[in-house]
Amino acid sequence: MWKLKRTQNCGELRLADVGKTVILNGWVDVRRDFGNLIFVDLRDRYGKIQVLFSPDRIKAVHDQASKLRNETVIAVKGKVCKRDGDTINKKIATGEIEIDVTELEILNEAKTPPFEVSDRVQVSEEQRLQYRYIDMRRPSMQKNIITRHKIVQVIREYFDQQGFIDIETPYMVKFTPGGARNFVCPSRLYPGKFFALAESPQIFKQLFMVSGLDKYYQIARCFRDEDLRADRQPEFTQVDIEMSFATQDDILALMEEVMHEVMAEAGHDLPVPLRRMSYTDAMETYGTDRPDTRFGLELVDVSAVFAASGFKVFAGALAGGGAIKAINAKGCGDFSRGKIDALNQAAIDAGAKGLAWVAFTSDGEMKSPVAKFFNEDEVAALREALAIAPGDLVLMVADARGVANEVLGTLRVKLADELALHAPGYHALWVLDFPLFHWDEENNRWDAKHNPFMRPHDGALATLESSPGDALGYSHDLVMNGLEIGGGTLRIHDADLQMRVFRLMGMDDDDARRRFGFLLDGLAHGAPPHGGIALGLDRLIMLLVGAASIRDVIAFPKTSSGGCPLTGAPDAVSARQLHELHLRTE
Ligand code: AMO
Ligand code: AMP
Repeated sequence: MWKLKRTQNCGELRLADVGKTVILNGWVDVRRDFGNLIFVDLRDRYGKIQVLFSPDRIKAVHDQASKLRNETVIAVKGKVCKRDGDTINKKIATGEIEIDVTELEILNEAKTPPFEVSDRVQVSEEQRLQYRYIDMRRPSMQKNIITRHKIVQVIREYFDQQGFIDIETPYMVKFTPGGARNFVCPSRLYPGKFFALAESPQIFKQLFMVSGLDKYYQIARCFRDEDLRADRQPEFTQVDIEMSFATQDDILALMEEVMHEVMAEAGHDLPVPLRRMSYTDAMETYGTDRPDTRFGLELVDVSAVFAASGFKVFAGALAGGGAIKAINAKGCGDFSRGKIDALNQAAIDAGAKGLAWVAFTSDGEMKSPVAKFFNEDEVAALREALAIAPGDLVLMVADARGVANEVLGTLRVKLADELALHAPGYHALWVLDFPLFHWDEENNRWDAKHNPFMRPHDGALATLESSPGDALGYSHDLVMNGLEIGGGTLRIHDADLQMRVFRLMGMDDDDARRRFGFLLDGLAHGAPPHGGIALGLDRLIMLLVGAASIRDVIAFPKTSSGGCPLTGAPDAVSARQLHELHLRTE
């Protein structure tokens, strides 16, 4: 057994402790060897402290210390001493003192780490994840993980106080189509059958409402077999919430309150209530359902300006029922041709047929490959519509309205990144009233925009079947700094209406019963009006700690290609396991 058990941690000693004899345990962060004097920075989760090995004390200890390698786990016993004025280290909290060591115990040797334990070094993500236990020794990772813990505590405390009950739901569930692609796990006991891993607790939380549990929350893991991005993981965590007899305003107010507390915990003030914007306005003004409101560059509809345009591209788009949308890239009027060509390419990559631009240079000139098609009145009206000043650059896309919006929405974000236009801080808003359905080209049918359980607006009920594309629902997405950090809806609580929605999505009654019979039955057994939301916890923490990737706030995430370099998962299984699971692989 080891002998020297710590009496304090490496971050807590101060000037007032001078004279005490203490024992500290930790990792050798660095060793500085001055021949006769050896300094070691000893590190643990709580901080760093300098410990000193002087040959005047005990030679054996000094000799031992001269061999210490970085990341070795040690215990030291010694006296807390004041450092001389010029040796004080203002960068660390323990910088005014050091430990004059009289005893050293080596608790475990360490191999040379694959990378330095420091936030300064640049390490490939593959390597960071392979040696995640070393990566998590870095101060920034420890801060991320501890912040996450603290925020989870705030959330739990808040929902508990509001009377919400934390209930677990199964991860191994029945496959239900729609939504994300599921991971599946084969069943040994039911040959040829599979469980799906839950993409969210959605249906179960609705069934809690049928049970009368009234207010549910859970910090739940969700599994989705999606293409990964910086803000997506195949398993991620939701703060999942459902309430009965609640209006949309109730849900929004509750979430604003908890978000306010969460932000306060992270040291930020979030003014509430939050701004509310309809989905339609978000698409028209920002070209996306998750508008980044930290900067302007809003989209303007200039179709009216060009209603009688002689430019065939514009006239053609309008004749086909499309629109001409524009943004005023303020201050970009003197952009080089190269920069404008790059924007044009970005527009085409985003799905445009082209980008019409008009540069109003700062010396009063107008440059544009398309201005020759515009008459004076059109130019004057364009100037007015976009409040153009010298030095501005107008970017226009003529296309189906949705395409024009989306393309300019992409350019808007790109320009803001390039020009660093983002206001500091956190800018959150609600995006409400999503369409119920979108047309699924691949399968030639209407598909749910959020999920098929969203309650349609009362006004949409009569025309649901005749114009499904126009139907809006009671939905609420929480958007912060251009990221969707939460989403939810009021739910359909009567089985007949739920059945109508399933039918619109191309399911006949048998299909719907086979897939969702348990939900339909539940709704038919006295379901109260209910609704809820889920926050993407990882995304929220990522924003709050300023991480560039969701992977920096998850202890053991998957790489962007979906694997785990630490354990080597996913991995093959034995022929015997496959046989037991009634599976064959090619
Ligand atoms: P939704 O699918 O919008 O809603 O998910 C809710 C929130 O979870 C986060 N999120 C993700 N985070 C990381 N990686 C992913 N792959 C990922 N996918 C989603 C987002 C998102 O806003 N059951 C509904 C909620 C409800 O209606 O109550 C649902 O799952 O931040
Ligand atoms: P064209 O007449 O097709 O050669 O296009 C003339 C100019 O209009 C070029 O600068 C194109 O980039 C631009 N353009 C083409 N199609 C569109 C469109 N759908 N919306 C906006 N600009 C376009």
